[in-house]
Amino acid sequence: MLAKQLLLFALLPLIQAQETVLGVYIFHRHGDRTSKSWPPTALTDLGYQQVYASGNFYRDRYIDGNASSAIFGISSDLVKNSQLNVQAPVDTVLQTSAAGFLQGLYPPVGAALGSQKLANGTTVEAPMGGFQLIPVNAVQSTASSANSENSAWLQGSSGCNNAIISSNNYFYSQEYIDLLNSTAAFYQSILPAINTTFTAAQDNFKNAYSTFDYVHVSEIHNATIPFGDLLTPEVLFQLQTLADNHEFNLAYNATDAIRAIAGSTLAAQIVQQLNTTITGKSASQVGIQFGAYAAFLSFFGLAQLPAVSVNFTGIVDYASSMTFELVTNATVSNTSYPSSSDISVRFLFSNGTASQNPLTAYPLFGQQDTVIPWNTFVTEMNKFSIGDQTSWCNACGNSTGVCVATATSTGSPSAQSTVGSSSGGVSKAVAGVIGAMVTLAVILGVEGLILLATGLRLVSKKRLASAAATQGTETGIKS
Ligand SMILES: *[C@@H]1O[C@H](CO)[C@@H](O)[C@H](O)[C@H]1NC(C)=O
Ligand SMILES: *[C@@H]1O[C@H](CO)[C@@H](O)[C@H](O)[C@H]1NC(C)=O
Ligand SMILES: *[C@@H]1O[C@H](CO)[C@@H](O)[C@H](O)[C@H]1NC(C)=O
Ligand SMILES: *[C@@H]1O[C@H](CO)[C@@H](O)[C@H](O)[C@H]1NC(C)=O
Ligand SMILES: *[C@@H]1O[C@H](CO)[C@@H](O)[C@H](O)[C@H]1NC(C)=O
Ligand SMILES: *[C@@H]1O[C@H](CO)[C@@H](O)[C@H](O)[C@H]1NC(C)=O
Ligand SMILES: *[C@@H]1O[C@H](CO)[C@@H](O)[C@H](O)[C@H]1NC(C)=O
Ligand SMILES: *[C@@H]1O[C@H](CO)[C@@H](O)[C@H](O)[C@H]1NC(C)=O
Ligand SMILES: *[C@@H]1O[C@H](CO)[C@@H](O)[C@H](O)[C@H]1NC(C)=O
Ligand SMILES: *[C@@H]1O[C@H](CO)[C@@H](O)[C@H](O)[C@H]1NC(C)=O
Ligand SMILES: *[C@@H]1O[C@H](CO)[C@@H](O)[C@H](O)[C@H]1NC(C)=O
Ligand SMILES: *[C@@H]1O[C@H](CO)[C@@H](O)[C@H](O)[C@H]1NC(C)=O
Repeated sequence: MLAKQLLLFALLPLIQAQETVLGVYIFHRHGDRTSKSWPPTALTDLGYQQVYASGNFYRDRYIDGNASSAIFGISSDLVKNSQLNVQAPVDTVLQTSAAGFLQGLYPPVGAALGSQKLANGTTVEAPMGGFQLIPVNAVQSTASSANSENSAWLQGSSGCNNAIISSNNYFYSQEYIDLLNSTAAFYQSILPAINTTFTAAQDNFKNAYSTFDYVHVSEIHNATIPFGDLLTPEVLFQLQTLADNHEFNLAYNATDAIRAIAGSTLAAQIVQQLNTTITGKSASQVGIQFGAYAAFLSFFGLAQLPAVSVNFTGIVDYASSMTFELVTNATVSNTSYPSSSDISVRFLFSNGTASQNPLTAYPLFGQQDTVIPWNTFVTEMNKFSIGDQTSWCNACGNSTGVCVATATSTGSPSAQSTVGSSSGGVSKAVAGVIGAMVTLAVILGVEGLILLATGLRLVSKKRLASAAATQGTETGIKS
């Protein structure tokens, strides 16, 4: 009895142990930029400030020596690049946004920390007060510039044939046709304010995003908009709401899941990175990716966030971020790392710079709790994630380019019979990183080219093993 009480007593501190963050994945939008109507688009000083402030916010939350939710094992002042995995497409605005964010995450450390002693006794200081260099892995969309901030977002950025067809189908939907008609007069009413950039024929709901973007940027940067008094707060709100509707519909359709391909591939990358954090016992615990608002919208739709709030059908503000925290209440130390059944995931979102807009937890997948067990999280994400070459080619209906191998081997019955067991979530997840890189992106640079060459080969072999098994069950997107 006494022993039991003593045991309970001993357990008490464990039960009340403070939550530990084991790792995070942050998906981030770029900061304020110039208009897409006047390429090349560039990050503005305001945008630089926004992403820098966001980086600083996450530093105070996760990295700093006094961080409110310090990540287990994270280096707080001198960056350890092995702990970070930062990605952005080959796009000036997104690459520079990532760089600005990282300056806030790991600011210069000064002469004392930011210097090294050479063999001959000379001390060398890093330039700019101990400025720290953090690589941003460049990923380039397969369809050259389509994911760029230079042009309005189009599904073409995904290179996914079925998704392109699906998004194009939006322009034949009754919803679209009705709005095009009912908003025609509204758009023409603002023509004098935008006619330096749009013709009367372009000034309609078909260009809802481009017109909104141009006006939005002008409102922030241009003190002398001709006929600017036409752009009342009500008109601005209407332009934004219509753009929200237009872009959400291009990014997600509840009955046509392939349209959300951007969210599906992102989901696979998130699970892959967080899983790497767990299996590596928080050796690589911070994943950061900069990307387009359309990927946010696709993911929101897939994760059933519009059921939480209709806000999740709106274009996220500049420098918005969504964050996935790997958390545990189990004790964590150098010698004791929690098992995956003791680990959970918390989803948070900040609509704009996180330093100024509260980072708020929301429940994913139509559930009640904002903290869900890792295993549940994986199961739910796997319902819509696409993380390997074969699944991507099948779901997208692509059979050329990187999908040639998939297309030619799917008919092989012998392959089918030998690999039945490797088609589950496991093999999918293992192939995740390679698949996502090949399908979504091509790493630039010499290293990248080598990686790509070997990556492609790896994938085709992998595919030989699993293509047939997934065939038939995965002709469409997994749902
Ligand atoms: C934490 O904050 C205290 C009080 O501001 C300061 O004295 C201390 O140096 C900080 N510790 C670290 C590791 O930054
Ligand atoms: C535990 O890990 C931290 C950093 O990860 C390191 O600084 C410390 O020396 C380690 N402690 C032991 C006892 O290994
Ligand atoms: C030490 O080596 C560095 C780098 O090679 C050189 O710039 C410096 O002049 C050397 N210092 C002395 C005292 O030889
Ligand atoms: C997929 O197919 C479409 C249409 O044929 C093509 O435009 C796109 O480039 C293909 N994507 C890849 C990655 O091969
Ligand atoms: C959504 O997809 C369904 C099925 O393909 C289609 O009938 C509908 O028009 C689409 N809606 C929109 C807004 O694209
Ligand atoms: C909108 O619909 C009305 C009634 O269906 C039609 O008369 C009108 O021509 C349409 N307007 C446009 C711009 O298509
Ligand atoms: C834009 O519209 C205004 C008002 O109708 C007109 O005065 C102006 O000439 C137009 N500018 C261009 C470039 O068409
Ligand atoms: C403001 O808008 C006008 C009309 O479109 C344009 O001529 C001018 O260059 C713009 N100014 C800035 C600072 O963008
Ligand atoms: C939705 O946005 C409105 C206006 O910004 C805000 O008041 C409300 O709290 C938001 N709802 C959620 C669930 O975030
Ligand atoms: C973010 O803010 C914009 C308004 O600037 C709004 O349209 C959108 O719904 C918001 N998104 C969320 C998820 O709160
Ligand atoms: C840790 O415990 C607190 C208090 O009971 C709870 O609010 C939190 O959700 C728990 N976190 C995890 C990861 O279970
Ligand atoms: C995590 O990675 C390990 C090792 O690569 C693998 O066995 C496991 O299936 C992965 N789990 C998930 C959920 O991806």
